[in-house]
Amino acid sequence: MIRSAAMAILLATSFATHASEEAHAKADPAKGKVVAETICVACHGADGNSMSSANPHLAGQVEQYIFKQLSNFKSVDGKPAARNNAIMAGMAAALSEEDMRNVAAWFSSQKLKPEAAKDESKIALGKTLWRQGDFKKGIPACAGCHGPAGAGLPAQYPRLAGQFADYTEAQLKAFRAEERANDPEKMMRMIAAKLSDVEIKAVADYAAGLR
Ligand code: HEC
Ligand code: HEC
Repeated sequence: MIRSAAMAILLATSFATHASEEAHAKADPAKGKVVAETICVACHGADGNSMSSANPHLAGQVEQYIFKQLSNFKSVDGKPAARNNAIMAGMAAALSEEDMRNVAAWFSSQKLKPEAAKDESKIALGKTLWRQGDFKKGIPACAGCHGPAGAGLPAQYPRLAGQFADYTEAQLKAFRAEERANDPEKMMRMIAAKLSDVEIKAVADYAAGLR
């Protein structure tokens, strides 16, 4: 009895491992690495650690988020892309859906060399917004969706920890101006609309220093 129960558990776990291996087998990070080394390397680094704050870090980013953004940069049937960026539109146009899955798996599996917070004077404001939001202004805590340590939450919520503060700031301003409008249910546009320039700078800097 005991032996067969143990056997059943063993079988169940081996099936479970198998099933999850099969789910991952769809994306091939080794093939993604080739794409990264030939195309993305110039701006994001071959391992997703970018050298310039105009180009976001992709290392350690949530896999499904990378895939979604690549799909959003792509214009389909001549319609405007869901996320408008001239440079990335050109990049995404050259990628098949399979390439996008593979390269997302590659960058997601890489180790981020994180940025640091720089502006000591605004750390307290950034930290409060991150952890508590601002109840009076109707701003929810960033931690609620992006995670207490900013690591992101698969599948929808991107990592912000260690990202360039300048990039995070630029994206928040783009959401606020509705120039970036690919966030589901307007989640980020509604939040960014309530953030001042000072709050945006503070929370972006705080996120850069999160680990
Ligand atoms: C010529 C420079 C350049 C190259 C080459 C390039 N990118 Fe980008 N990428 C950018 C810029 C600039 C942005 C920021 C766009 C914005 O400000 O909205 C970006 C943004 C992204 C984002 C969004 C990240 C986020 O946090 O939302 C992803 C994903 C991405 N790139 C993937 C790739 C992949 C994969 C490749 C290779 C196939 C690639 N990029 C090649 C410049 C580049
Ligand atoms: C209700 C959930 C939710 C909350 C709360 C939230 N976010 Fe987001 N955020 C999202 C989602 C979802 C996305 C991805 C949008 C997409 O798919 O393009 C996102 C994307 C972002 C991005 C773009 C990241 C990139 O790599 O381009 C930034 C920056 C960001 N959020 C900052 C914040 C900050 C700062 C706060 C707190 C003031 C916050 N978010 C609170 C849901 C949330």
